[in-house]
Amino acid sequence: TIVPPSIVLTPSQVAKLSVIEKSKRLAAFAAVDEHLLGEHRVIGIGSGSTVPYVVERIVSQGPELNKARVFIPTGFQSKELIVSSHLNLGDVDQYPTLDITFDGADEVDRDLNCIKGGGACHLREKVLAEAAKTFILVADYRKNVEFLGTNFSQGVPIEVVPFAYAKVLQNLRGTLGSPNAVLRMAKMKAGPVVSDNANFIIDAPFATDVMKDPYTIMARIKMLTGVVEVGLFCHMAKAAYFGNEDGSVTVK
Ligand code: 5RP
Repeated sequence: TIVPPSIVLTPSQVAKLSVIEKSKRLAAFAAVDEHLLGEHRVIGIGSGSTVPYVVERIVSQGPELNKARVFIPTGFQSKELIVSSHLNLGDVDQYPTLDITFDGADEVDRDLNCIKGGGACHLREKVLAEAAKTFILVADYRKNVEFLGTNFSQGVPIEVVPFAYAKVLQNLRGTLGSPNAVLRMAKMKAGPVVSDNANFIIDAPFATDVMKDPYTIMARIKMLTGVVEVGLFCHMAKAAYFGNEDGSVTVK
């Protein structure tokens, strides 16, 4: 018989994980253990490679607890994760207020501002972050920085309607001061990356001093007509969990 793969890893699968994957898993487990309460019913599930460990921890709490919960995805990937883990799938249309949302991040600064959108999901991610009473970030140690843009050099992900992309790119390269802003292309340059909302993504790197005040640059980008959402999440997270190489967890 074929046994479907379980999201809950066996000890031998855990032993084979790389240091970075173990760090992600540590962060996710600590965040779920600390913040997911018995009374939480509506739970947002973010996108990326760290979030599956959040779901692993939730699934390992058992079907009794989970049958009373509903899980809202931030995109196609997290929807598949919820469905394949046999958790109840919901929609933000039905649940515009969430008890808690867990999500990954590309970088988190000392004030818990973060860059998101490395996976082009930041519009729906921001909706679920804003809709949640509590928003928690999970990541490995590489994402824990003093100022945004330290390690994540590809720039701020910006979702833009296809009709407006050339104009927005020109605005970014000109008055907004990101001369190296580019339209994100799919692998093998097969065409632009298209988000779950059928939009394009621009990656716009900014100078370090600009990134020290992420709210100001976020607001300026968001004012450009054609911009749908900016991958800067300012003053949204309640806490961020980072797994470290030595097996410890840093909480900000
Ligand atoms: C997708 C995201 C992800 O949460 C972010 O890119 C982090 O991903 P990972 O956990 O794989 O490092 O914002 O749009």
